[in-house]
Amino acid sequence: MQATTELNFDHYSDLSDAEAGARIEDARARLGQRAVLLCHHYQRADIYRHADLTGDSLKLARLAARTDADFIIFCGVHFMAEVADILSRPEQTAILPDLAAGCSMADMASLAKVERCWRELAAVLGDSPDTRITPVTYINSAADLKAFCGEHGGIVCTSTNAPQIIDWAFARREKVLFFPDQHLGRWTGYKKGIALGRMAVWDPDLENGGLTPAEIENARILLWKGHCSVHQMFQVGHIRHWRAQYPDGQVISHPECSLDVCRDADYVGSTEYIRDIVTAAAPNTRWLVGTELNLVNRLAEESKPQGKIVQFMAPMICMCSTMQRIDPQHLAWTLENLAAGDVVNPIRVPAHEAALARVALERMLAVS
Ligand code: 13P
Ligand code: SF4
Repeated sequence: MQATTELNFDHYSDLSDAEAGARIEDARARLGQRAVLLCHHYQRADIYRHADLTGDSLKLARLAARTDADFIIFCGVHFMAEVADILSRPEQTAILPDLAAGCSMADMASLAKVERCWRELAAVLGDSPDTRITPVTYINSAADLKAFCGEHGGIVCTSTNAPQIIDWAFARREKVLFFPDQHLGRWTGYKKGIALGRMAVWDPDLENGGLTPAEIENARILLWKGHCSVHQMFQVGHIRHWRAQYPDGQVISHPECSLDVCRDADYVGSTEYIRDIVTAAAPNTRWLVGTELNLVNRLAEESKPQGKIVQFMAPMICMCSTMQRIDPQHLAWTLENLAAGDVVNPIRVPAHEAALARVALERMLAVS
């Protein structure tokens, strides 16, 4: 596409949501099949309505790998657009409408800290960690951490496939280093029957993760001390209080919630799983949902005609502020530039990093 003079975002920031929405539709019509709009379930309603395809992280990764569109407009967060770039063909371009749309959990692990952890593990275990530990990164992580896993015999997982990925990892080596979400790692280990005493939290800000050599030797899973600030708001007390009022109600949570919340829930799974279970539920049922508010609000609206009541787990508002960064103004700006021949906010993972990250992602796609 031939570049013209790039339209500055300042011209868009004062647009009303409705004006921006109309311009999004117009630019999309001009772009036609050249652009596909992938949208995560946490996106706000005035973005979600423009989606060509929606999904959780795993589904969106697969869709990004399959699309023929020249431009993959990712309405989600940074690591998702990176995955789209890594899995798509070189001539395709992944675009994130606002580069500030990151994931605070993903930022809790960095390559420098993971490499230091690997060196410390080598010193304690008296061997190369590559022979004893499989690094497993949650897809909510930067591309260089996926590359680290690709290089060290490791793999990526999502909230959907974590149990199969843990099986894959233990079939190869005796221990797992799981980053950056301790809660997904703990829940997955728990479901696999690993005793809580054999899962140790690795604090990256402390020498040897704050663990003794004996604790490291004893651990089957080392859980990176990271979490999602949205999902940590949900408490087991919220579930118990609700169940006391609605004993017939059912509870569903995302595995980024704490172990106590997941143990108390009737169902635990990814955003797509939550959507599927609540959508397929019998009419006139009542649900308490522990995940981000945009998805819960959408499910509540969609379920109303069947008499289903869908409620949010926490009494306070828990929204993913970075997912919210993708707003109609940024999407209009991105699409109008594209229609005019200018690519703004492309996400390009450096080739050497992308090649190794792709190894870890393809291992995951082959397993799940
Ligand atoms: P899903 O893969 O379940 O959509 O989760 C992504 C995420 O960031 C949840 O907080
Ligand atoms: Fe990251 Fe949590 Fe937002 Fe998901 S909800 S994108 S884990 S900060």
